[in-house]
Amino acid sequence: MCILNLTWMAEQHKRMDPAAFGKANYQRNSLWGALVLLIGSASCNPNVDRTAALEQQVATLQAKVEQAYKPGLGEFMSVIQVHHEKLWFAGTHANWKLADFEVHEIMESLDDIKVYAKDRKETVMIGLLDPALDSVRVSISKEDTARFRSAYLALTNSCNSCHRATEHGFNVIKLPSGSPFGDQEFTPVK
Ligand code: HEC
Repeated sequence: MCILNLTWMAEQHKRMDPAAFGKANYQRNSLWGALVLLIGSASCNPNVDRTAALEQQVATLQAKVEQAYKPGLGEFMSVIQVHHEKLWFAGTHANWKLADFEVHEIMESLDDIKVYAKDRKETVMIGLLDPALDSVRVSISKEDTARFRSAYLALTNSCNSCHRATEHGFNVIKLPSGSPFGDQEFTPVK
């Protein structure tokens, strides 16, 4: 395209001889020449090709982003449920390192909800868990089992407050009974 234009432009220039054409003809041809030069330089410009390539890349990436898997609020909640349960077994076995780990896993999932579940109206209420989570963290740092138990109960009640407030009151979270995680040791490593 670029070489073709340049050859054609050279041809046009040869024909623009004022002696062979009248003055008006020459002027018209000069205008033509300017236009051809403009189009020619645009298609010869490497920036134009680069922009087209980038536009293509953006379109491809956009399509990929739209198809990318995005977990829903319910999926984050199921992950939180696992860590909520493990937190209990860690805390009641005075495994403070594991308890600290589990409480941070819950907090990470809450942060993810704020990013990935922005479109859910319930997400504005997610901060409702913060005071109870703080109390759980204090009990862990003090390695105080009695304090942990009451903070954990407050946390569980906060889960249910939000479920009730968001018309999911049928979804009741309670203190865990036997551990469903038969393959995980909750007592601290000596
Ligand atoms: C922002 C309010 C809110 C808070 C706080 C909250 N939840 Fe939820 N939870 C929801 C909503 C809304 C759903 C329904 C999600 C859906 O549409 O799938 C849900 C669903 C769930 C589910 C899925 C139920 C099922 O059986 O599939 C579980 C489990 C759950 N929550 C556990 C918890 C736990 C544990 C906590 C506390 C640590 C908690 N939630 C805190 C709002 C909340």
